[in-house]
Amino acid sequence: MEDIQVYDFDVKSKINDYSVYFRDNIKEILLNEVKEGDFFVIDSKVKSLYEKTFKGILNSHNCFEIDANETMKSYEGTIPVIDSLIKSGFKKKNRLFAIGGGITQDVTSFIASVLYRGVEWMFIPTSLLAQGDSCIGSKTSINFKEYKNQIGGFYPPSKIFIDIKFLDSISETDLKSGLGELCHYIILSSKKDFNLVADNYNEIIEDRSKLKHVISTCLQIKKGFIEQDEFDEGIRQLLNYGHSFGHAIESITNYKIPHGIAVAFGMDIANYISVEYEMLDPEVREEIKTLLKKIWHSFDLTSLDTSTLLNALSKDKKNVGNKLGLILLNDFGNGEKRLILPDERFVGYLNNYLNGSV
Ligand SMILES: NC(=O)c1ccc[n+]([C@@H]2O[C@H](COP(=O)([O-])OP(=O)(O)OC[C@H]3O[C@@H](n4cnc5c(N)ncnc54)[C@H](O)[C@@H]3O)[C@@H](O)[C@H]2O)c1
Ligand SMILES: [Zn+2]
Repeated sequence: MEDIQVYDFDVKSKINDYSVYFRDNIKEILLNEVKEGDFFVIDSKVKSLYEKTFKGILNSHNCFEIDANETMKSYEGTIPVIDSLIKSGFKKKNRLFAIGGGITQDVTSFIASVLYRGVEWMFIPTSLLAQGDSCIGSKTSINFKEYKNQIGGFYPPSKIFIDIKFLDSISETDLKSGLGELCHYIILSSKKDFNLVADNYNEIIEDRSKLKHVISTCLQIKKGFIEQDEFDEGIRQLLNYGHSFGHAIESITNYKIPHGIAVAFGMDIANYISVEYEMLDPEVREEIKTLLKKIWHSFDLTSLDTSTLLNALSKDKKNVGNKLGLILLNDFGNGEKRLILPDERFVGYLNNYLNGSV
């Protein structure tokens, strides 16, 4: 049997160090970990798909099911969860267990960080995006109105248990969305890590042990950034690569384009602009685009309008004054933060991109 523990690691945090375990026996883990009074917040789709796994562990007194959508990830969406927690007698010493993707994580971590001034929580990520990215890093944001990730802080779980068997039931779109998100790590890391995915794309999609290796690689890359700069004041901002454009695309399409797919488009827009600003070799952009195209596949941006995109970009929290704070690319493993005035030249680039001419 493969030694799954070789993938385990710890993350150093200014709030609380925490541990990531790769395991294939979630039921036993939960039976061991869960104590009386603990409470689950679980993605309703995951709960019904894995009824057998959770049988005898979840009951109506200790469990809140959520529909994973961006509207739920809001103040309004957290109210029934908090209500249910307080009514069930949940106390400060009890723990929250989140089971689901990035939305379940963000809702639970946000509540864990504010309820009774903070309660312990653990996470069982079930989407590729959550397993290979969001489960570490301590961010807890929820959305405000149509603006994404506006309210929150930093509050890591104490333990994360990753079981890649959950990925057997995710949709093709969610698998691609996860891969889009993972691409920003491998591109910001090195040509070698990029090639790991670009050269083995089909095998990674079909072979879960190869996908597990990519998940582990991306988490290790992210660990390097967040242990240096947990609170996103310096080098961690490079991880915003593809995200300024990605968040703008998500918000103006009313989240019809999933997060990781929007980020895949966002990286290509950032690369195109990097080429125009003579930072990036056009051949590197094309090499990356060959991979990104497989990820965004049937989605396209042709119906989007430049001024609407620009307006959404102007709301990005990383902007400074009237300048856009964008992460551009010099090469594999070499991102750079630039403050860019959205002048006529920049608007021209966005126009070119959206009309499909570049
Ligand atoms: N906190 C962070 O650091 C961080 C980082 C990146 C992204 N995010 C946030 O995460 C969200 C995106 O995460 P996501 O893609 O996991 O979203 P999600 O939680 O909505 O999951 C995507 C879809 O997959 C379904 N799903 C989850 N696990 C499944 C399984 N095992 N089988 C079948 N279906 C399953 C969900 O029901 C949902 O329909 C966004 O809101 C994004 O802003 C947060
Ligand atoms: Zn992301």
